[in-house]
Amino acid sequence: MKYINEINKRKTFAIISHPDAGKTTLTEKFLLFGGAIQTAGAVKSNKIKKHATSDFMEIERQRGISVATSVMSFEYNGHLINLLDTPGHKDFAEDTYRTLTAVDSVILVIDSVNGVEAQTRRLMEVIAMRKTPVIVFINKMDRDGKNRFELLEEIEKELKINLHPSTWPINSGKEFKGVYDLHEKSLVLFTAGTKANDEDVVEITDLTNELLDKKIGDKDAFTLREDVELIDGVYGDLNVDDYLKGETAPVFFGSAVNNFGVKEMLDTFVRIAPTPRPRHTTLRDVKPEEEKFSGFIFKIHANLDPKHRDRIAFLRVCSGRFERNTYYNHVRLHRDFRFSNPYSFLARQKEVIEDAYPGDVVGLYDAGNFKIGDTLTQGEDFYFTGIPTFSPEIFREVVNKDPMKTKQLEKGLMQLTDEGVAQLFTQFGGTKKIIGCVGDLQFEVIQYRLLQEYSASVQMNSLPFYKACWITSKDDKKLQDFIRFKQGNIAEDKDGHLVYLAQSEWFLNTEMQNNPDIEFHFTSEVHK
Ligand code: G4P
Repeated sequence: MKYINEINKRKTFAIISHPDAGKTTLTEKFLLFGGAIQTAGAVKSNKIKKHATSDFMEIERQRGISVATSVMSFEYNGHLINLLDTPGHKDFAEDTYRTLTAVDSVILVIDSVNGVEAQTRRLMEVIAMRKTPVIVFINKMDRDGKNRFELLEEIEKELKINLHPSTWPINSGKEFKGVYDLHEKSLVLFTAGTKANDEDVVEITDLTNELLDKKIGDKDAFTLREDVELIDGVYGDLNVDDYLKGETAPVFFGSAVNNFGVKEMLDTFVRIAPTPRPRHTTLRDVKPEEEKFSGFIFKIHANLDPKHRDRIAFLRVCSGRFERNTYYNHVRLHRDFRFSNPYSFLARQKEVIEDAYPGDVVGLYDAGNFKIGDTLTQGEDFYFTGIPTFSPEIFREVVNKDPMKTKQLEKGLMQLTDEGVAQLFTQFGGTKKIIGCVGDLQFEVIQYRLLQEYSASVQMNSLPFYKACWITSKDDKKLQDFIRFKQGNIAEDKDGHLVYLAQSEWFLNTEMQNNPDIEFHFTSEVHK
């Protein structure tokens, strides 16, 4: 238990939301509280603006921002907090899913006006799968939002999670007066247009206290008393264990842009959010307090300078102590590697570090040796499990326009797909290269980067597929028969796993019905 103090100090999490709900604004407020930045407006949004889908300068700019903000570490009240950034654009959702494998908890931001939106639903499925603890922040209370009870009901129903209000709002929009902190038993008053840290907090342990009427008026005091009575009756006290099991999510109301209700949430977060947790591997569960180091790569980022082919691999430390210039076992390659310039992201400054502990994310310069899901250990051979690859939904055939550049193209495709930009399939029994993505924008990025970084000019032809799913069967003969009959729809992924490409939902359902011995998988774990 040598490193237990270091482990107990750390909280590693991500903020997730549908674009525009306020993730960037909330991140900025956290960094202000942590002293990691001094002024508002310092955190650049990593959103790719809607109109910019063909503006490649914009994509490059965003890539720059997204390296810089991949991890933001700061200290708050004696805790070391690692905040992992997730891309806002839906076409890069896979990147977000993978980042979620590297965190121990999440904060979900919901826009009080729009309620639960499409992207949130999908993200929550991944979170539920992993039973990740969630805290919900209902943002933009300064705007006329939905009825708060109805909103809670909607969130519970849509996201299939039990909620537990930790603060309760007094009105919304122009009438928004603040929140009552149900845990601290205090009234936090809101004044529109105030600057950061300007919350006016009044302790009111007993809601019958007349001070409440004085502060917010008789009518709102009456409503608040009624609401709180109802909430106490329905929800009772927060059971922190239920939160840690991913079964109950505490809810906070506020306004990120006004820095209102944020501190209450941050204080609760550091009080209850999990410290680095044990993780499953192909061999056994690995506890963070184990002496020997282990970790895995969850994200790879190419260098922005095309003259330098090196990339940055993001390593999440899972156990023991990671040390600079020390040899570690790269499990997939059966080779030892050491890193002379590993860096961390404390206060958003990239700096070379001597060591790192469970929960930390380390940036490693990589000359092409890493793939997403790779594991580093201090000797043992195992892989961390639960890093999913999702079935893509849009497909293009890659056609080489310049035969002289075949080698570069192959290399480019391998490297870009190692980075997780898209998935690469090869036609079964043939050579046709097929790229599968979840969003159109990714094809444009690939085409552009192949040309810029590998001088490979390609054409992308649409393919009439609707979904790719991995196929397996306990009955090898049935699998072989299926492959033979469906040859035009079969491909292999980069690891040689068989994939069925369905033209439509109807085809997919029909094949699933007609072939009960074949299993169709919609996610493939990098390591099982
Ligand atoms: P995202 O990262 O989740 O995509 O959202 P982001 O923080 O960029 O916020 C989206 C927009 O919502 C921004 O306005 C931001 O100022 C605004 N916003 C954030 N929190 C609140 C809030 O509590 N109340 C209100 N009324 N608005 C909020 P924008 O016009 O797109 O950008 P900007 O010009 O203000 O930067």
